[in-house]
Order: sequence, then C-alpha cells, then structure tokens
Amino acid sequence: MSDILINEVMNPDDRKACFSIRVEVFCVEQRVNRAIEFDGMDDQCRHYIATYKGNCVGTARTRQLSDTEVKFERVAVLREHRKNGIGRLLMARGMSDAAHAGYRRAVLNSQVHAGPFYEKLGFRSEGDVFLEAGIPHRSMSKEL
Ligand code: COA
Repeated sequence: MSDILINEVMNPDDRKACFSIRVEVFCVEQRVNRAIEFDGMDDQCRHYIATYKGNCVGTARTRQLSDTEVKFERVAVLREHRKNGIGRLLMARGMSDAAHAGYRRAVLNSQVHAGPFYEKLGFRSEGDVFLEAGIPHRSMSKEL
C-alpha cells in the first residue's frame, strides 16, 4: 500500500486537521489573514485530506459554482512534504470525484508560483494576473 493516502473528509477530526494545515501554509507561511482564509464557505465544500504514513500533510477543497462547474480552492501541502506527488494526488482525487458528480469544467485561481503545478495537471491560464489576499494569482481552467 502507498504511504500517501487521499480521503474525502467525513469527520470533525479530519476537518480540523485540514484547517490546521491551511493555517500553517496560508496564514503562517504566506501571511494570509485568517478572516480571509476562513471565508465562511467551508460548509459548502467537499474537503480532502492527504496523509503520509498516517500523518496529515495536505488538503484541498472543491466548491460548486454551477451545475457544470466546480472550483478548486485551498490546495496546500506542508512545506516539508512538497514535491513528493501529494498535491498531484489531491487534485487527481478531486477531479475524479467532480467528473463522477457530473461537472464538466474545473476552475481555480492559481498563485502565480503554482502555475506550472496546475499546468502539469492539464489546467490552462486565462486572463491577466490579479491580486487575491495580497498574492498574485491567475485564473485557470480545465475540461473534466
Ligand atoms: N513550481 C513548479 N513545478 C511545481 C511546483 C512549483 N511551485 N510545485 C509542484 N510542481 C511540479 C512538481 O515538480 C511535479 O512535477 P513532475 O510531475 O514533473 O514531477 C508536479 O508539479 C506535481 O507536484 P507535487 O509534488 O504533486 O506538488 P506538491 O505536493 O509539492 O504540491 C502545491 C504543490 C502548490 C500544492 C504546494 O507547493 C503548496 O502547498 N504550496 C503552498 C500553498 C500554495 O501556494 N498552494 C497553491 C494555492 S493556488
């Protein structure tokens, strides 16, 4: 069995673990304000958690925008576990679930530095760079 597991969050403990990863990555490392990070939309989202050897190391959420469109948000892997394929597995699981749920298109706002990561997953950039939470972003999308 692989040391990396991706699961949809189904209980309060895993949800808490995802939120802790988001605090560590976005609020501490990237200095995003907590009020922006926890935007009141978590209850509308499907959340995913990645574990490595049983430890919680990554998370992502997906949010319905319309009957056909889903948005990936809060994709985060703890710094010491990056570049080990965890982010790719999180995204693959979310895209597979979204396709099975009938969505036709996935969209996201990528931090500019993460563009190549999403491009490797088939996302393409659209439009100009803009600021979100004070960080340069670009819209990206992919047909599912
Ligand atoms: N720049 C260029 N390539 C990158 C990259 C980056 N910042 N991050 C990952 N990649 C590449 C990897 O090298 C790998 O390439 P390969 O398939 O040729 O080997 C591929 O993308 C998959 O990488 P993976 O190891 O699955 O990514 P990860 O687990 O390191 O997670 C992020 C990527 C972006 C989620 C992680 O860097 C992170 O949490 N960053 C901080 C939070 C953040 O900025 N999130 C994005 C918000 S839009």
